[in-house]
Amino acid sequence: MTALGEKEREAADEAFMKATGIKRVFGKGNAAVTALADVHLTVPAGSMVALKGRSGSGKTTLLNILSALDEPTEGHVFLRGREITGLSSRERSALRRKEIGLVFQSFGLVPLMSAYENVEFGLRVAGTPTKGNREAAERALSRVGMKERMKHRPMELSGGEQQRVAIARAIAHEPGLLIADEPTAELDTKMGLQVMRVFRDLVNHSGMTIILTTHDPGIMELVDHVIALEDGRIVSQTTNNKPLI
Ligand SMILES: Nc1ncnc2c1ncn2[C@@H]1O[C@H](COP(=O)(O)OP(=O)(O)OP(=O)(O)O)[C@@H](O)[C@H]1O
Ligand SMILES: [Mg+2]
Repeated sequence: MTALGEKEREAADEAFMKATGIKRVFGKGNAAVTALADVHLTVPAGSMVALKGRSGSGKTTLLNILSALDEPTEGHVFLRGREITGLSSRERSALRRKEIGLVFQSFGLVPLMSAYENVEFGLRVAGTPTKGNREAAERALSRVGMKERMKHRPMELSGGEQQRVAIARAIAHEPGLLIADEPTAELDTKMGLQVMRVFRDLVNHSGMTIILTTHDPGIMELVDHVIALEDGRIVSQTTNNKPLI
């Protein structure tokens, strides 16, 4: 356990997610790469946040730390006031199974399984009780507008539809936090917009908080907050008072 001052703990309690003094160094000695340095950020509950920056600026490294997939070299991350850094890998995976959903650029669906089976299988892998899995999987597919097509296999679906199934899989256990690394990078503008509309609906109607990365300038207009990274450091944080969706 890391000792935290009273003030630090109080500040962490106010935000849905908060990161302080994050540094991540890969490798050692001459080969060491500092992927993140001096990163401080606060994510309000029920908001959509985009991380932007050039290739190699540290976006994925930061997302991995915020989703408890990776540990920073220095610094602390809090989710709803609870520190998620300094946990064992078993505690981290328990936390992800309960509170975090993950979405990736390349969808990651199992080709031989239908959309429904992909989502239901995701719940089983996560160890969620099997009773009620059917309802949870169907509810998640409805949320992303894919219930009608849930018997189709990934190859019978468009890229945007596949990504919506991947989102259903990520939210079937009803996490409070959804983390998405370049979720629209493989989609054309129209399908990317559909995916962003699904995200907006989840934020507005399920109170979910979403943190995503993107290279697409169009996406920045659709989110609530944009955090720009350059060489592993935050160089600007802006708020859209009127996001376009
Ligand atoms: N496991 C690792 N070992 C060594 N260096 C790494 C590792 N992961 C990332 N890096 C380095 O850290 C830096 C940040 O990488 P990261 O993947 O976070 O960038 P990114 O902003 O997500 O880029 P992209 O837009 O290309 O996805 C890069 O210099 C990268 O080479
Ligand atoms: Mg990346």
